[in-house]
Amino acid sequence: MKIPAFFILIGLVLLPPVLASAGPLQDKDCGSCHRLGDSEKKNSGPDLHYAGNKFQAKWLKQFLQNPEVIRPAGVSTAPGFLQGSSGNPHPSFAEKEASALSDSLMGLKVSGLTLEPVTTEPLSKGKRAKIKYQFERTFSCISCHQSLNLAGKVRGGISGPSLINAGNRLQADWVVNWLNTPEVYTSKSRMPRYKMDSATQIQFTQFLMTLKKENMNRRAAGGK
Ligand code: HEC
Ligand code: HEC
Repeated sequence: MKIPAFFILIGLVLLPPVLASAGPLQDKDCGSCHRLGDSEKKNSGPDLHYAGNKFQAKWLKQFLQNPEVIRPAGVSTAPGFLQGSSGNPHPSFAEKEASALSDSLMGLKVSGLTLEPVTTEPLSKGKRAKIKYQFERTFSCISCHQSLNLAGKVRGGISGPSLINAGNRLQADWVVNWLNTPEVYTSKSRMPRYKMDSATQIQFTQFLMTLKKENMNRRAAGGK
């Protein structure tokens, strides 16, 4: 009985790396459009090598079952992606597969990065009004990002990713870190680098976390 036990042990030692190299993301060829690892390869879809730092798992699972437009202007190499009948449909999956893919994505993180936890307690009415003013006027974030006004109406530019569902889609800790050190995630950001103190970064994050698709007023948004 000595030898089989030895082989089982060796098997256990060898198995994990073999499994790790054939995850569902590789099986589904997500890497043909998305950056999933450390390589600087140019991809046509948004980077996902830090998906586990950035997204909420529940949102990922929903997106993979029912992909929605986040970049209304498309991505540089695939304009109009996911838009209209001529658009390029994103791969979508049944619940079980979406769940496995989402789990794998949540495992992709920037190595060695620990994000400071942020409290996302609700902003007071006065603070929310102030930060909304900064979002729209002082920093003009809205010129590139879609957001929701008080009536739940979609407004804003489309050159950046939509933020109308940021509160369901993004992790608060990540948003603060993105505003503070975007170079951790991309060396070629098209978003201006702002000088703002960490209190302002946290307030912007708290404001963005209040933006949720379910607060969208579909009538005010013009139908459907
Ligand atoms: C043909 C290219 C292509 C393939 C293949 C592809 N994607 Fe995408 N994916 C895109 C593009 C382009 C977007 C951006 C859509 C938008 O922003 O409106 C996107 C968006 C996403 C997003 C949202 C990212 C964000 O920043 O909002 C996730 C998550 C995602 N894809 C996961 C996957 C997974 C998992 C697979 C493999 C099963 C996959 N994709 C396969 C092109 C692709
Ligand atoms: C000139 C256009 C522009 C302005 C102004 C701008 N952004 Fe961005 N922002 C972008 C682009 C483009 C991205 C996508 C990442 C990239 O390409 O660097 C982005 C990404 C983001 C993200 C991450 C969203 C995601 O899904 O990846 C957040 C959060 C964000 N911006 C918040 C803000 C805030 C808050 C302000 C104002 C203080 C602001 N942005 C001003 C263009 C802009």
